[in-house]
Amino acid sequence: MTATASENTGKKLIALTFDDGPSYYTQGLLDGLKERGAKATFFIVGSRVKAYDETIRRAYAEGHEIAQHTYDHPALTTKTDDQIRWQVNYTDELLDECLGMDMDYLLRPPYGDQNSRVLSVIGCPAVIWSIDSCDWVSLNQYSVRDTIVNQAFDGAIILVHDIHRTSIPGALMAVDILQDWGYEFVTVSELYRRRGVTMEDGVKYYSCKPNGTDYGAVEAPEICSRVVPGGCEVSIYGADGAEIYYSTDGSFPNQKYTSTVFISETTQFRAVAAFGLNRDRSPVTETTVEVKLLETPILRSAGGFFYLESLVEGMKIHYTTDGSVVSMKSPLYSDPIPWFTGTVQCFGTTDGGSSPVETHHVSESGNIFADISPDRWYFAEMDRAVSLGLLKGEGNNVYAPEEKLTRAAFATLLYRVAEAKGVDCELLQEQSPFTDLLPETWYSEAILWAAEREVLLGYPDGSVRPEEEITREQMCVMLCRLLKYIGQDLPEAEPEFTDANEISSWAYASVGSICATDLMHGNGNGTFAPMATATRAEATAVLLRLYEHLS
Ligand code: NI
Repeated sequence: MTATASENTGKKLIALTFDDGPSYYTQGLLDGLKERGAKATFFIVGSRVKAYDETIRRAYAEGHEIAQHTYDHPALTTKTDDQIRWQVNYTDELLDECLGMDMDYLLRPPYGDQNSRVLSVIGCPAVIWSIDSCDWVSLNQYSVRDTIVNQAFDGAIILVHDIHRTSIPGALMAVDILQDWGYEFVTVSELYRRRGVTMEDGVKYYSCKPNGTDYGAVEAPEICSRVVPGGCEVSIYGADGAEIYYSTDGSFPNQKYTSTVFISETTQFRAVAAFGLNRDRSPVTETTVEVKLLETPILRSAGGFFYLESLVEGMKIHYTTDGSVVSMKSPLYSDPIPWFTGTVQCFGTTDGGSSPVETHHVSESGNIFADISPDRWYFAEMDRAVSLGLLKGEGNNVYAPEEKLTRAAFATLLYRVAEAKGVDCELLQEQSPFTDLLPETWYSEAILWAAEREVLLGYPDGSVRPEEEITREQMCVMLCRLLKYIGQDLPEAEPEFTDANEISSWAYASVGSICATDLMHGNGNGTFAPMATATRAEATAVLLRLYEHLS
């Protein structure tokens, strides 16, 4: 991807640098540089970072290099080693905090003042200059322009200060002229990187004259995606030797890219190729990767075969039956699969979209479960309840075993047991007496049946609140009422639990009777947890005991 060195040797490169800012004038300078496609380097004074944090972030986002100029601009040769370190490290911290990244910064010693001691202490490359615009002396835009233009040479580093009003138009006029003469304005790091010169800590740099090498500007990375099960896999390709950073939240790309990124929803990617995040970097590439998530295929069993079906037109279904992870390379479904006990994993694709992967477990009795794995404690019980017709899924083999039990779900379970045991299940009236019970819901019949037999009571306000979670003591009460309706004699017993005092008075006798009948149990640690809500799986276990009890 990188242009070879020989192709580019003709480019004249020059580095504009701005010291002592940012200031009130810097935003205007950034506008001018942006208009001209010119890059610059800002040697920022630490004490100004907080007041101009927005300006610094803008400069960085627009591809300029952020560098440092100590905290409060002392002549470093007059400072102790510790004082120098503090000046440099504290400014480094302030810039990191401002930009939200941990980065390295080039340093320019104030006044260009340094010696071998200073250079050994700063711990980074020291950038001096080869052309001084003398803008702070002239305070005249034409003088600034002429001073720069008259001394310009290929590889020069130009010193300007963005704290003087006249320096901004002066520098921009110089950019116009030098661009006409074929100069490309680059950051200091880009100047050295392109000419193959490695900048070293504690070394002074004044200019970087042409040496026959130009690696060229860093090209923007390419963002590619391909459909995989349940989403897309995104790959980012950048220039040889460059690091790639990306973001998915609209911020500046600052997450290091190391391998493909999986996404399951449409995502905006931004990426940059860089030789160090604060050094020479490419323009930002921005791409929205569309994810078209489709309905998962349905697994159905009939007549000794499994059928994989999809409502999505043109969907191709990949599947495995050996427990291995399904992928785009897995076999395509065409003919019914002979019945077996084990695992069917599948997903579907169309052009540009895919469904999530679904894993279906087939029990020995031939029931299919998409959300219950055979290693769960309740697998056998739920399997039995399904075989007995007491439990029906929510479609596509989903049973939601860990979901909290609602009044509607428990009423439905009781209704099915009653049905299976030949208990009278006829509805006396078709009209619902409840304000919040819609007809034609999966539970409306069961709730009406339970209400007519006073197994489930409505609330005084006329509601029956089918979606409300049901507590364990409420389960006991409903079980008692059902058994009484059937005409069963229930033993009277005290609930023998350490938290028996937490049982509501209206439920106390029911909890005692139901536990004495062995339909429900304590928690093993001597408690009953009357106010807890059971899961659908726990309720299924209770239901099977009721089924046995009624035999
Ligand atoms: Ni300065």
